[in-house]
Formats: sequence, structure tokens, C-alpha cells
Amino acid sequence: MSDALNHDFLAAMPLAALLVDQSERIIAANTEAQTLLGQQIVGRHYATILRQPQVIEAIERSLRDKGASRSRHLANDGAQDTTFEVACRYVNGIGAVAGGAVLVSFTDVTPMEQAGQMRRDFVANVSHELRTPLTAIMGFIETLRGPARNDPAAQDRFLGIMEQEAGRMNRLVGDLLSLNRVESEERIRPRGAVDLTAQIASTLNSLRPLATEAGVELHSTGPETPVNVTGDEDQIRQVLTNLIENAIKYGGRGGEVRVTLSEAERDPAVRGPAARIQVSDKGAGIDPVHLPRLTERFYRADSHRSRQKGGTGLGLAIVKHIVNRHRGRMRVESTLGSGTTFTVILPK
Ligand SMILES: Nc1ncnc2c1ncn2[C@@H]1O[C@H](COP(=O)(O)OP(=O)(O)OP(=O)(O)O)[C@@H](O)[C@H]1O
Ligand SMILES: [Mg+2]
Repeated sequence: MSDALNHDFLAAMPLAALLVDQSERIIAANTEAQTLLGQQIVGRHYATILRQPQVIEAIERSLRDKGASRSRHLANDGAQDTTFEVACRYVNGIGAVAGGAVLVSFTDVTPMEQAGQMRRDFVANVSHELRTPLTAIMGFIETLRGPARNDPAAQDRFLGIMEQEAGRMNRLVGDLLSLNRVESEERIRPRGAVDLTAQIASTLNSLRPLATEAGVELHSTGPETPVNVTGDEDQIRQVLTNLIENAIKYGGRGGEVRVTLSEAERDPAVRGPAARIQVSDKGAGIDPVHLPRLTERFYRADSHRSRQKGGTGLGLAIVKHIVNRHRGRMRVESTLGSGTTFTVILPK
């Protein structure tokens, strides 16, 4: 094959690819390979371009054995670390010397690596979250069988703590299942009609005992007439419950939580008519460093306080997926020391 043919052939490949012949030089490279490795790579010794030992070794082996080999190339595209699967295949009859060259191609396997990493992180997180209450329960069982065997008062207290810890595990499993369900339905559009005015009123009613216990007053502002959106009633209710519960739990020190419902002819966030729900508190606020990660599973801004309040760190992750399913948007604004406002915008 002539140089021009080599060039056309590489240009047609959908992957970054280059040819290294027996002179150990790169004799051709396509645009994708130049983007990955640099513009001036043709003519250079391959080991000065591909400096990673495992890649050099794979090419070396292919050149020597006139066969196939594989390895990995690690890079960074400016925004993130990337991983490429490198495949080396020997092609007879091309190249300047000794009649052959190695075709080296690079497949981007970064998304697969990331999915694997996410799965490992998730399993580690779940195990950790379950282990903490489980360890406590096991410790108390031991105490009940031993030192507290004949102490009814202590037994009662320990059983109370065990109940709390078991409750936490139960909530965690419940939240995980509901997250799973929401995620698996995320691409299916909800079809029901939901009256936000009524849902807000009834959610506030059911959270009133929690608010009273925390010394928080619940207020709501908005139209008294129905405000309808297309949605899944249970899920909308879960969004409201999670946001208001958070405002009470974490913003309660401000003494007041307000839910505001409004409508707009056109909201830029959803490019059309929308209903807007705002849940604001006058609590301690959230440090801006936490804001981008708040909707990640298991992420807690103040992990000690959240755990103490029985939080699993899944509430906002569930909210985010529900809002996505409804083609809506969620925003958080928070000022340290003066409070937090969560806004959910739903298309009408
Ligand atoms: N209104 C708020 N004010 C201050 N911090 C908040 C507020 N809402 C949420 N946060 C912070 O965001 C974190 C994540 O909230 P999220 O609802 O996802 O989890 P959680 O409340 O800890 O647990 P769960 O809701 O599953 O019981 C909380 O742990 C808390 O630190
Ligand atoms: Mg929560």
C-alpha cells in the first residue's frame, strides 16, 4: 500500500489510529490520533510519542512477533482523566522496511470505566450506611445478653436505640428502592393530573407534627384555586415531603419554613408555561462548596448532623430524578447564616 493509501485508510477509521513500521517510526496517523497525541507525530519514533511503558511494550511485541497485542493508554482531555484501550495488529505488505507495520488503534473506554467506578462507589456507600446501624444493633444485643441481663431500665433504653437503628436501616432500604423505581421510570412521562395547591396543603398538614416538635412554623403562599400540572401524584408528593422535611430538619433553627406556589406564562427554565414551587427556610444555610454535589446519592453537607437526624442522604437524589422525569428543573440558593431556598419548576 502506498503512503497515500495508508493515509486514506486511516482517515476512514472511526477511531484514533496510526501505523508504526519496522523502522519504529510512525508512518501515518489520522486526525483523531493527532488530536489525542499531537499534530507533529508522523515521522517520529513511536516511543517518543507514546511514552507509557505498557503501550511501548505492546507495540514492540507486535513489531517483533508480527502479531496482535493490547494495552491501555491513560490520558486527560483537559476536563477529566480518560482511558483508551489500545489494540495493535500487524499488517503485512506495508511500510518502508521489511514489509510490514503495526496498526495501532485507540478506543475510548472512559464511560465504561466510570460506570464501573460508580458501581463500586455505590456498593461501598450502601455497605457503609448499613454497617453503622447494624454494628450498633449487634453491640446492644451483646449487652442485653450480658451486662444488662437483669437490668430492665437499661434493657428498655437499649431496645429503644435498637428500634431507632433498625428504623434507619428500614428507611435506607425504602429510599434505595424508591430511587431505583424513579430511575427506571425516568424516561416514561407521567400522565396523571396533579393539583399542586391541594398537594402542598395536605403535605404541610402531615408534616405539621414534625414541625411542631422542631419548634418550626409552617407557612404557605399561593393561589387558593387548583394549579394543575401533568405528573405522578405520589412522586410530586415525595418531592414536597423531602424538601419541606429538609427545611424543617436543617433550616429549623430559623423558626419558619415557607412554601410558595406561583405560576408563570413562560418560564425560561422549561421554555413554556410553568408552575414554580419554592421551599425556603431561615436556617444556617449551605456552604457553596456543597451545592453542586447536594443531589448526589449519600451526599450530606453536614454529615454528622444529618446522620443524627436519621438522614440517609438519598432524599435530594430522589427529588432530582423525579423532577427530571417531569421534565422540570430544580435550583438551590443558599446564604450562609440566613437560609436556603429550593425551587422546583414544573412545566404545565
Ligand atoms: N434546607 C436545608 N438547609 C441546610 N442544609 C440542607 C437543607 N436541605 C438539605 N440540606 C443538606 O443536604 C444534605 C442532603 O439532603 P438529602 O435530603 O439528600 O439527605 P438527608 O436529609 O441527609 O437524608 P434523607 O432525606 O434521605 O433522610 C443534607 O444532609 C443536609 O446536609
Ligand atoms: Mg432529606
